[in-house]
Amino acid sequence: MNQFISVEDVADIPSLVSQALAFKQDPWKSKTLGQQKRIGCIFLNPSMRTRLSTQIAAQQLGMECIVFNVGQDGWALEFEDEAIMSGNTVEHVKDAAPIFGKYFDILAIRTFPSLKNKADDYSELYIRQFIRYAGIPVLSLESATLHPLQSLTDIITIQESINETPALQGRRPKIVLSWAPHVKPLPQCVANSFAQWVNAWGEADFVITHPEDYELDPKFTGKATLEYDQDKALAGADFVYVKNWSTYQDYGKIYCNDPGWMLTDKKLALTNQARVMHCLPVRRNVELSDEVLDGPQSIVTREASNRVWAAQAVLAELLKTIRQR
Ligand code: CP
Repeated sequence: MNQFISVEDVADIPSLVSQALAFKQDPWKSKTLGQQKRIGCIFLNPSMRTRLSTQIAAQQLGMECIVFNVGQDGWALEFEDEAIMSGNTVEHVKDAAPIFGKYFDILAIRTFPSLKNKADDYSELYIRQFIRYAGIPVLSLESATLHPLQSLTDIITIQESINETPALQGRRPKIVLSWAPHVKPLPQCVANSFAQWVNAWGEADFVITHPEDYELDPKFTGKATLEYDQDKALAGADFVYVKNWSTYQDYGKIYCNDPGWMLTDKKLALTNQARVMHCLPVRRNVELSDEVLDGPQSIVTREASNRVWAAQAVLAELLKTIRQR
């Protein structure tokens, strides 16, 4: 693996999932793989789970991990080519990224979209510029349009649940991605990425449900079934992945914000005792009710804990490639 930006960087999803679950069984089994190697985790936006799980994963592989919050600690970065830097940006990524490339062996980046300019966001300008100028493998900790470490974790968590549940074995599970209300416009990254990974994994019947006008980029949703009636979509579901996103077509807006789309116990009763997932952080009693989040079908804490094993499996693959050079 030369980089980890999207599912397209993964040759074999089931094998990566198996590696992650093997690390869960024995976290220190590759404790020397990352010796004398250093990862720089560069945050342009806030994070709790991604930041901590990546640090833990790196440590369990014997790597040194340095976290740098550009937004708080560093100079404001410029990303546009040929920019006349007479505004607020102080340092061009063209100057900063090669330095990261000298300090680190792997560069991990978290950026968010502006939600103002679709073309800019969907061109993945920020992460592309880091890849272009750093000269070392780049790992996405969430970009403008995708969150691959989260999505790998989600597939790991679904596979783990299937492995533990005879009733889910020997057939294709039904997975539903269900839009939820929110108080502010959020990126489409998690939903795009989840759709991209479930489609590439190919082991489930996949349904996406949301109010009209929240259609995602078909590049990511592929052949998933779109169902505007949430109750119909939830019928017989084995896994429900709840997430808000803002509009993609008329970019970054909130249209319908009907609280009736919040997942409650009443809605969950329509499913096949579905496991409930969410990437977190979650707005309680806006996206999901307390009764669902605190109930027996919620696997959100397990999902978040699995972030470590996803990060460790991906870092191990990147390290193997570096060591072969
Ligand atoms: N799910 C997720 O990426 O969480 P953080 O924003 O806390 O990293």
